[in-house]
Amino acid sequence: MEPVVAARADWLGEALGMVLSESSSLPLTRRLYRALRDWVQSGRLASGARLPSSRRLARELGVGRNTVLDALDQLVAEGFLEARPGAGTYVADLPFSHLEAPAQETSDDPSPAAALSARGERLLRLSGAAAGHHEAFPPGVPALDRFPDELWQRLLRRHRRRAPEAWRDYRAEGGVPALREALCDYLRLSRSVRCRPEQVLVVQGAQQGFELIARMLADPGEAVWMEEPGYGGARACFEASGLSLVPAPVDDEGLNPARVPAGHGAPRLIYLTPSHQYPCGVTMSLARRLALLEAAEAHGAWIVEDDYDSEFRYGQRPVAALQGLTEAARVIYVGTLSKVLYPGLRLGYLVLPAPLVEPFRRANARLHREAQYPVQAALGEFIAAGHFSRHVRRMRECYRQRQALLRRALAPAVARGLVLSEGQAGMHLVAWLDDPAHEAALVERGEAAGITLSPLSGFYQQAPGRPGLVLGYAGTRDEEILRAGRWLAEAWLARVDGVDRRN
Ligand SMILES: Cc1ncc(COP(=O)(O)O)c(C=O)c1O
Repeated sequence: MEPVVAARADWLGEALGMVLSESSSLPLTRRLYRALRDWVQSGRLASGARLPSSRRLARELGVGRNTVLDALDQLVAEGFLEARPGAGTYVADLPFSHLEAPAQETSDDPSPAAALSARGERLLRLSGAAAGHHEAFPPGVPALDRFPDELWQRLLRRHRRRAPEAWRDYRAEGGVPALREALCDYLRLSRSVRCRPEQVLVVQGAQQGFELIARMLADPGEAVWMEEPGYGGARACFEASGLSLVPAPVDDEGLNPARVPAGHGAPRLIYLTPSHQYPCGVTMSLARRLALLEAAEAHGAWIVEDDYDSEFRYGQRPVAALQGLTEAARVIYVGTLSKVLYPGLRLGYLVLPAPLVEPFRRANARLHREAQYPVQAALGEFIAAGHFSRHVRRMRECYRQRQALLRRALAPAVARGLVLSEGQAGMHLVAWLDDPAHEAALVERGEAAGITLSPLSGFYQQAPGRPGLVLGYAGTRDEEILRAGRWLAEAWLARVDGVDRRN
């Protein structure tokens, strides 16, 4: 049996109830006494834990109060429990309770082996290491310390207070109407997305949206074109739904539909990041957008447009979303608040073509349930009252400066041949390398120096990927950008000098 309590014995009644429900010829008092004594001795009932009153235990166990009192009195008399007049009964502070507890935990673990499904094993391979990341340079992490938390907490409190009782229930309405309207206004104006509030389905992050799309629109074994290199999170969702992933090469105009390898059958889905390709950073050209729309039409495929960070453009004019290009486009637009606000918020949204609205809303409510209505309402006000656009402007400026800082720190390396991506947008830069062994060595040495260097080759589905480093700067404080950037520049120079000396 699992440990019963820590400092409080809130669930003791349930635990003792299970003991009494087992068949035994012993009297009730004896069985209560034994169970409590064993749990004190083994440390499951922690020293100092306060027991519920005898009256409450008797009521919860459906036995006479004297039955409980007799057992407790005996344990007090033997020193296992301590009666504090006027304060209740407590587990005594006994040395053996600490000594015996670990012995139990180190005994042979009887849990069944973790035999995962083949899908589970594939998913795990796509899930990376369990370890966390360092402050520099994890990709995709926003400036968490710059979030206007006080204002946000105020809005949250207000909307929690006002939340109608109906919001405590199961619902299937696609999200809070005020948020869907606010998102629609924002998307129509800032991203040229064609949408009405009914088309917006609020989900718990883009990932959940990808999973829902995969399950609703493609059957196991059907093909999905994925940008190569591309976003591993989306890949994991499609993989977990049993789809067959087809790498679609990306060049400096974005995904090229003409270069997708043949022999995989018509795709059911085409996933891409046209505004700011992840991780290479290119913006898809108009010619390619039109070619892609045509290819999707010809194959009867749905396009999944992941517009994850297009708010952050520096200098360049914003590029309209692919979804808005034509009237009847077969595009599902996916947005997330993980980059503009923060990932722990777990909010994202889909803008669905009209025929998919009702099926997706119902399936989402069935599969994942709708969640966090007061948070959605607070976000609706955050957007409608202009806080959102203000925050985006502030973060755009912050990230522009952080990118400049990273470039400054890397300048000595750039002067000696290190090539960086253009960085016209987004939250990371790519440093291109030409040797896979160099990539691996830098990643390993970076880890030892407390720096996360994400290998570009890891963003490829098919080996060998092009070597490089993906350097997220948005969520890294200025001092750390300088420290880690200088470290990387020195590592580059040391290699160049070493190579030069050898030549
Ligand atoms: C390309 C891309 N799309 C979407 C997301 C956001 O996913 P979510 O909304 O589930 O946090 C990320 C986050 O890392 C991303 O990098």
